Amino acid sequence: MSENSNLSPAPVDPTTTEAWQRLEEHDGMLDKGLREAFAEDPDRAKKLSFEAADLFVDLSKNLVSEETVGLLLDLANETGVCKRRDEMFAGAHINTTEDRAVLHTALRRPKGASPALDVDDQNVDADVREVLERIYEFANKVRSGEWTGVTGKKIETVINVGIGGSDLGPVMVYEALRPLADAGIEARFISNIDPTDVGETTRDLDPETTLVIVASKTFTTLETITNAKLVRAWLLDGLHAAGVAESQDAEAVAKHFVAVSTALDKVEEFGIDPANAFGFWSWVGGRYSVDSAIGTILAVVFGPEAFEEFLGGFHAMDEHFRKAAPEENVPLLMGLVNVWNVNFLGAETHAVLPYSQFLHRFPAYLQQLTMESNGKSVRYDGSAVTAETGEIFWGEPGTNGQHAFYQLIHQGTRLIPADFIAFANPTYALKDGDTDVHELFLANFFAQTKALAFGKTAEEVEAEGTTGALVPARVFSGDRPTTSIMASALTPSVLGQLIALYEHITFVQGAVWGINSFDQWGVELGKQLAKQLTSAVAGDESVLAEQDSSTRQLIEYYRAHRA
Ligand code: F6P
Repeated sequence: MSENSNLSPAPVDPTTTEAWQRLEEHDGMLDKGLREAFAEDPDRAKKLSFEAADLFVDLSKNLVSEETVGLLLDLANETGVCKRRDEMFAGAHINTTEDRAVLHTALRRPKGASPALDVDDQNVDADVREVLERIYEFANKVRSGEWTGVTGKKIETVINVGIGGSDLGPVMVYEALRPLADAGIEARFISNIDPTDVGETTRDLDPETTLVIVASKTFTTLETITNAKLVRAWLLDGLHAAGVAESQDAEAVAKHFVAVSTALDKVEEFGIDPANAFGFWSWVGGRYSVDSAIGTILAVVFGPEAFEEFLGGFHAMDEHFRKAAPEENVPLLMGLVNVWNVNFLGAETHAVLPYSQFLHRFPAYLQQLTMESNGKSVRYDGSAVTAETGEIFWGEPGTNGQHAFYQLIHQGTRLIPADFIAFANPTYALKDGDTDVHELFLANFFAQTKALAFGKTAEEVEAEGTTGALVPARVFSGDRPTTSIMASALTPSVLGQLIALYEHITFVQGAVWGINSFDQWGVELGKQLAKQLTSAVAGDESVLAEQDSSTRQLIEYYRAHRA
């Protein structure tokens, strides 16, 4: 690994900073509670609400005072968060274990951005634009019907074969923006190596009208390569049955398969013409890649214009993160509030609760973004972390979650900070008689954060006529922290802003903790062992004999029960 001389050699230990010491002694809202804090200061909501691009973010229902926020900003200052942010935007190799720049923000710089970004002898802006133009040209051809399958039929379905960052982002965005799919092309996704995924996804499709995008940064991921081979076999079988001669297989693959990868040599080895491949670069992490060529399926389904708008949303949030003053910098503040919740209030999880059915895959997308980034026990110099890191992200859209797990958030023994996300304008403005159903929906959004913040006292319960042992069961303690995020509507730009917001929140937390948020060594061991165990599962007794008794027993169970 080469020296990264432009970096601070070792992270500051956050727990040794003056701000951390003061935060430890600081009560936050705990001596007071949100009821009192709001009653005391009529401007609290205003003081703790912020705008970032088109997002309105209300932090006032968190267990923080202005003093807490001030101390958290001191912590950011002492741990060099903004310096590290600037290093990231400039292309420094802040991914130390892989000696790479971290430049997903370069993927969304506008055309003609000035000054141009040159990193490691690469004209990043020119390269990004060149790939984008190729993607757009391809997308337009597929959308217009100029690009057809090998039998001359228009493409009606595009399947993205990928996993992790090569799947979760495209799936989430496709689901979020579905009504904007305007070219009569449906997107499908295959990720799991469970053969069910290929079987079910292709079951009712016509190979003649299906295009496959194999998306893999490394082009070595077992699941993706195996699934791509399965889909290729399904496609060729179907085409042969439709009368395509086997001698046309290469042409068929060229018309029905494209690839997205940083490893174009491996794409060619797989049999996909490099002319039908869209590249990206090692400085784009998998979980930060939905706005790279990994989003090709989105450009096809929604069109280049919508994709540009999506990228513009990311960039607007990048500019906010880069330029807004710390005390108004939303990703910085939200990241710091998360640090407060995790390290000082003991939160272990973080719920993300979109009041938009279109965002039903957003929590799953955020799980990879946040947990693969910040689930680390060592800092970027190899030393052990000095405080708890990465919380468990989870969530479901409201109001469904209200009828499932909200009970625990309201009355359980654990502190579960939650982000509530909602949009003023619905995609479907439906009415039930005179009732605007979106208003009914949003009333729930407003009600939940109010209930979580302010709860219900025993006196209030009694005043409603409840008596005896039922009273405590109906009391809500309140003081359950939430952040509300609102925007006018869920547009491609707003979605880009939301994703970039969480990318930067994740960055801020990682920077405070001194960890490398851009590697993922923790996924390696399982991959290695799966490779080793494949032969034991297939019946290799000697490999089976080497296993621990539990693993051996489980494999034996499988072998005994497999029909
Ligand atoms: O599971 C780890 C991981 O490397 C993720 O970080 C990545 O997004 C995913 O696998 C898929 O990798 P690739 O795009 O190289 O197939």
